[in-house]
Amino acid sequence: MPKIGDIELPDFPLLLAPMEDVSDPPFRALCKENGADVVYTEFISSEGLIRDAAKSVIKLDIYEKERPVGIQIFGAELDSMLQAIDIVEQSNPDIIDINFGCPVKKVVCKNAGAGILRDIPLMVKLTEAMVKRTKLPVTVKTRLGWDSDSIKIVDVAEQLQDVGIQAISIHGRTRVQMYKGHADWKPIAAVKNNPRMHIPVFGNGDVDTPEAAVRMRDDFGLDGAMIGRASIGNPWFFNQVKHYFETGEHLPSPTMEARVEAARRHLQMAIDWKGEKLGVFETRRHYTNYFKGIPHFKEYRMKMVTSDDSADVFAAFDEVLEKFGDFQFA
Ligand SMILES: Cc1cc2nc3c(=O)[nH]c(=O)nc-3n(C[C@H](O)[C@H](O)[C@H](O)COP(=O)(O)O)c2cc1C
Repeated sequence: MPKIGDIELPDFPLLLAPMEDVSDPPFRALCKENGADVVYTEFISSEGLIRDAAKSVIKLDIYEKERPVGIQIFGAELDSMLQAIDIVEQSNPDIIDINFGCPVKKVVCKNAGAGILRDIPLMVKLTEAMVKRTKLPVTVKTRLGWDSDSIKIVDVAEQLQDVGIQAISIHGRTRVQMYKGHADWKPIAAVKNNPRMHIPVFGNGDVDTPEAAVRMRDDFGLDGAMIGRASIGNPWFFNQVKHYFETGEHLPSPTMEARVEAARRHLQMAIDWKGEKLGVFETRRHYTNYFKGIPHFKEYRMKMVTSDDSADVFAAFDEVLEKFGDFQFA
């Protein structure tokens, strides 16, 4: 069974990927309840944390019910990353994850995120210093390489392991690919097959069906799957995969009642966490996904995403249940 430091995980664990504006406490709680074995926060700027920027600091909020939880930070300045570690530790996460995979221009131009894939010695040096700074297990999330001509992930992963990381999650795309094309899991399998590798190697990218998770486990031999987009609007995905592993059969798609209940709880948890105004505002982006596929839904969606008053949104949920309660999701 794979372990991250002392954290024992089940066979082929499913990890909720860090996702900006998505992997917040309410969403993480829903994923955890529905089978995610490890959850990660969205990425948090080390520079923002040091400045005590409220937007970064609130992202450190974690709750007992979601453990084991990893807090992900990004940056490329050694001092900032070390100070960020000290701040992150105060939130008492189970894991600290370093983001070496974000492809966005404003991040990579500062050598952070996937930008650091152009400077592997710096990547290793930063990682080593961060591992030394904390007693918590440090994990890394990265991509295959900067571009298709510079895929050295087997060597990079081994170097990161040798300076003390406890697990690595690899998105099977290069930085240049951004989110285009298909994730290539072969180089991730090569990392796993390196006989010197002994930490868990988790695969990431395009695990969007239970069958894909089976392929990642059985054909590519990876230690677990990190799941991102497939969970958006579908926090049930983790249990769907686990059910398929156990039975070879698909769970039925969640009913309208289950979807409304999830949306309701999502909104309530967001309000409890951030207050009425922000809770209502920040949960809006999830409704389209919870109710995807319902014909002529626009009128109801508009009710959910235009009111600032949670009572209106809860009323819209009731209306949807009343009107579309029998709708069969694909
Ligand atoms: C909306 C969104 C936000 C993301 N934010 C982050 C992030 O904060 N940190 C990170 O390491 N990756 C981030 N990613 C990348 C995902 O963690 C993951 O690597 C990628 O989506 C591929 O996995 P998937 O095919 O399962 O979605 C983000 C992806 C999406 C779609």
